[in-house]
Amino acid sequence: MIKKMKTIFVKNYEEMSEKGYEIIKDVIETKEQPVISMTTGGSPRGLFTLLVEGVNNGLDISNTVMMNLDEYIGPKNAVYTVNTFMYENFYNKINTQPKEIFLINGEADNKEEEINRYKEVLNAYPRDVQVLGLGTNGHIGANEPGTPFDSTIFLAEHDDSTIESTMREYNIERDEAPTEMITLGFTEILEAEKVILLVSGKRKSEAVKNLLEGEVSTDCPATALRDKDNVIVIIDEEAASLLDEETKK
Ligand code: F6R
Repeated sequence: MIKKMKTIFVKNYEEMSEKGYEIIKDVIETKEQPVISMTTGGSPRGLFTLLVEGVNNGLDISNTVMMNLDEYIGPKNAVYTVNTFMYENFYNKINTQPKEIFLINGEADNKEEEINRYKEVLNAYPRDVQVLGLGTNGHIGANEPGTPFDSTIFLAEHDDSTIESTMREYNIERDEAPTEMITLGFTEILEAEKVILLVSGKRKSEAVKNLLEGEVSTDCPATALRDKDNVIVIIDEEAASLLDEETKK
């Protein structure tokens, strides 16, 4: 099977987080003005813990530009928003701040205007790194099954499985859970010099099997990354548990 993206197989969540951190730390230490675009949710929590430790122990982010690839539609301070996650898990915990912080405004009345504003941010700041998590249905950002592989930043509707994952992750009821998100499309995601996909846990094993061994198809959005040589997938043992031995070589 021809696949150009790089796969790194690790033991567990901790090792996945450490590998991700090593890559980002190297970019921060070597680029003149590093531009890092993050994701939120369970997958990057450990990576954020390491980044906080790093920054508070001298990793210099004074020239680093930070942003995120998506934001839920809802009140900015709701428990599930990317905004809340980023402040609780990173910006409020570090003792020096990045050069710039960009976030999508999920409570903007005019979504089209907000999308256009963020497009300008994306044009002004080409990303060195884009960190991603994998949906149980194979989604990337909020590019759900069926999204064309040439998508650009748009207002996306969540699949049921995504709404359920949000409820689980943030311990909220269905009527509180967001159903839409503004998300970067595959086009802007893949523009990053390095794309890091973090995958851990049994819950993700089906999606990982489709990602690495299934058909390249919009049915599994992550397969859009398969033939891209700027993509690094870091997969732990539980997430890799359904893979053929051949795939892990
Ligand atoms: C969240 C996002 C989503 C998650 C994905 C995996 O900002 O972009 O695509 O990365 O749903 O979520 P976790 O990591 O919570 O399993």
